Amino acid sequence: MGSVVPLKKSANSAYLELKNHLSKKLQKVEGLIEQKLKSEVNLIKKMSNHHLNSGGKRLRALLTLEAAKLTGYREDSRDINLAACVELIHSATLLHDDVIDESDLRRGVKTTNSIWGNQSSILVGDYLLSRCFEMMVEDGDLEILKLLSSTSAKIAQGEVLQLQHKGEADLLEETYIEIINLKTASLFSAATKTGACLSGGNDKEKKALESYGRNLGLAFQIADDALDYFAKEKLFGKEIGKDFFEGKVTLPLITIFQKGNDEEKSFLTEIMKKEKRNEDDFSETLALIYKYKAVEATFKKAEYFVNVSYDSLAIFPDTEDKKILQNLTSFSLCRSY
Ligand code: IPE
Ligand code: IPE
Ligand code: MG
Ligand code: MG
Repeated sequence: MGSVVPLKKSANSAYLELKNHLSKKLQKVEGLIEQKLKSEVNLIKKMSNHHLNSGGKRLRALLTLEAAKLTGYREDSRDINLAACVELIHSATLLHDDVIDESDLRRGVKTTNSIWGNQSSILVGDYLLSRCFEMMVEDGDLEILKLLSSTSAKIAQGEVLQLQHKGEADLLEETYIEIINLKTASLFSAATKTGACLSGGNDKEKKALESYGRNLGLAFQIADDALDYFAKEKLFGKEIGKDFFEGKVTLPLITIFQKGNDEEKSFLTEIMKKEKRNEDDFSETLALIYKYKAVEATFKKAEYFVNVSYDSLAIFPDTEDKKILQNLTSFSLCRSY
């Protein structure tokens, strides 16, 4: 959209650069996850394989690995274990989230809930979380254990807070930020802070990486919420307009409510209050989104967090690892998937 389009190519390559840089370690993370999720229960095997083999960027695991590298971790064990934990928390969250959101499509394939139903999806999500907690206990670092378990509680609180505000067209931007901070940015910041903790980084390094992750996560979720209004389903891998039809109020909608006149405000209030919204409601809302350039305004706000994220790394010396993390900040905003 607007000025962000020209950046798209280099932004996507920033993610690939990170992935290639850590490809050997990431393979080990994948292997460890597979090994730890082994179960005698056939259905668990089928469902967790389906979910984990459906793709996914493994962004949070990569963030833990790269943050550890940036702060001087040179071995090949705790980072793999903890990156796997972070990715497992994310995977479990998605299993639960697709039930809550009644989503049929993720990563371009059918969701586990749409194939095997809600009950087993919730339980397999719990299974992933429980294995993750076993692995954190094995690592034994209390600071990390505390960080990741409180993050898991934050994600749940964010998801519930979002439900609590469902259908509110006049949702405060501040409340929206609180929601996405809990449900998304908390895990991004925990992922990067974990990297600093496991390598024995000092307080300033931990704080810097925590801030990097938090602001990256905020920008990432804001971009995701904008993509929900205009992305191509094939690239995005999720249904378009999902948030709107669910009654989930995100920044593009908050923007048109802020800018709209009284008539438009009451239109938005009425349609968001309804049990279900139809295609005509969506088209009218999209027209307002275009009228008020709400996607551009949304990206503009996300840009602020991208900049804070980028600047958080200032305390680190200029190395290849720092450059990779800096470049990644624009990926959070300019991605199409
Ligand atoms: C999806 O996260 C959930 C959000 C926070 C928007 P990702 O886009 O990182 O999901 P995968 O793992 O790559 O599919
Ligand atoms: C994803 O949230 C799950 C969490 C961040 C907890 P969303 O519902 O906003 O994201 P998608 O669109 O399903 O990936
Ligand atoms: Mg969802
Ligand atoms: Mg959701």
